[in-house]
Amino acid sequence: MTDIKKGLAGVTVDETAISKVNPDTNSLLYRGYPVQELAATQPFEAVAYLLWNGELPDADQLAALRRTERAHRGLADDVRTAIDLLPTSAHPMDEVRTAVSVICARETAGISNVMDAVGTPAENLERSIRLWAQLPAVVAYGQRRRRGEELIPPRDDLDYAANFLWMTFGEDADVVVVDAFTRSMILYAEHSFNASTFTARVIASTLSDLFSAVVGAIGALKGPLHGGANEAVLHVFTEIGSAENVGPWLDAALAEKRKIMGFGHRVYKRGDSRVPTMKAALDTLVEHYDRPDVAALYDALESQFVERKGIYPNLDYPSGPAYDLMGFDTLTFTPLFVAARVTGWTAHIREQQAANALIRPLSAYVGPDERHVEGYVPDAADVEAQERPEEAAG
Ligand code: COA
Repeated sequence: MTDIKKGLAGVTVDETAISKVNPDTNSLLYRGYPVQELAATQPFEAVAYLLWNGELPDADQLAALRRTERAHRGLADDVRTAIDLLPTSAHPMDEVRTAVSVICARETAGISNVMDAVGTPAENLERSIRLWAQLPAVVAYGQRRRRGEELIPPRDDLDYAANFLWMTFGEDADVVVVDAFTRSMILYAEHSFNASTFTARVIASTLSDLFSAVVGAIGALKGPLHGGANEAVLHVFTEIGSAENVGPWLDAALAEKRKIMGFGHRVYKRGDSRVPTMKAALDTLVEHYDRPDVAALYDALESQFVERKGIYPNLDYPSGPAYDLMGFDTLTFTPLFVAARVTGWTAHIREQQAANALIRPLSAYVGPDERHVEGYVPDAADVEAQERPEEAAG
């Protein structure tokens, strides 16, 4: 009997030097640094640099990265045109995925030999930076378009996080908000072989290009069992309404065997290492916007669910209400995750390319036994292929 690891649970498929998730100690390291330390001390640009290059940048390296980021942070005409072709009711993850496809076509135009699309390590670092730099404009424009608001061009005098908020809301964000937003971006940036990163690595392993791997990763992230959970958490909060309703709501949800979004994790079983940092950022926002009702609902649902099921919140639980308080539409939450995670995805794509092996697992066949189309007479080539089954497999 074949030993099947459904969902690849517990299977180690490769090595990585990018991040280490340790469920026993509830810790997460990016290139050796605890993520909490990075969130407390670094701008998002420095963490992106760390993920791509393995070391934190010195002042000159950070300044150079920021110059490149600023040079590419405007919404390109081709991307805007493509987004405008989509219905305003399209999910913004479809906008972001489409935008990356357009960027892919532009960046890889003229490459006539499929073997060249994969690019060199240096080219792929530059592609990673340019792609990362372009996504905030896509996400910000998406939210504004849905609200019937005009595009806001980027500002050169602001760093990544402050400019992202500027392009979304058209006003200078308070330092508390910039700080909480930066922390969320850092916490979302990387998480080892999660489903979207693995998707990106599978695509990269075929020697496809970096952008195509990111397009696939965005598709994987859209699902509510993965990135879509931050959006789903807000629907849960809206459904419950207020802290007093948590008890009866939970009774009904558990009786229906519903999954409560924002709780549980494939790897962490005793709490997600990123939650305390994001919860602290949420607390600063609760105070800034004077919304104790949000904190009350958050605490009530967490304590009652943990008490009843022993399942702990994941990062999406505090980030959902935090993004809501900042003024992002619920539909924009998962695209924010993309803007952050594109750093981790592209670091993994480059790592996969550097020591590639085509990812192609096996499956245990459980379909009908061999049978034949009535009246079919095999020719000589078929007979020969049957005798060499390993060559016939795709
Ligand atoms: N709400 C209710 N029950 C949950 C739960 C949740 N959020 N998460 C796990 N469980 C329960 C399952 O129902 C299952 O119970 P059972 O054994 O009685 O059938 C058990 O815990 C194991 O869950 P399972 O889904 O098999 O574990 P997994 O490792 O595959 O799941 C997740 C990980 C993330 C897919 C899962 O916890 C989940 O769906 N969470 C909600 C979505 C979410 O927040 N995703 C973001 C992840 S960062």
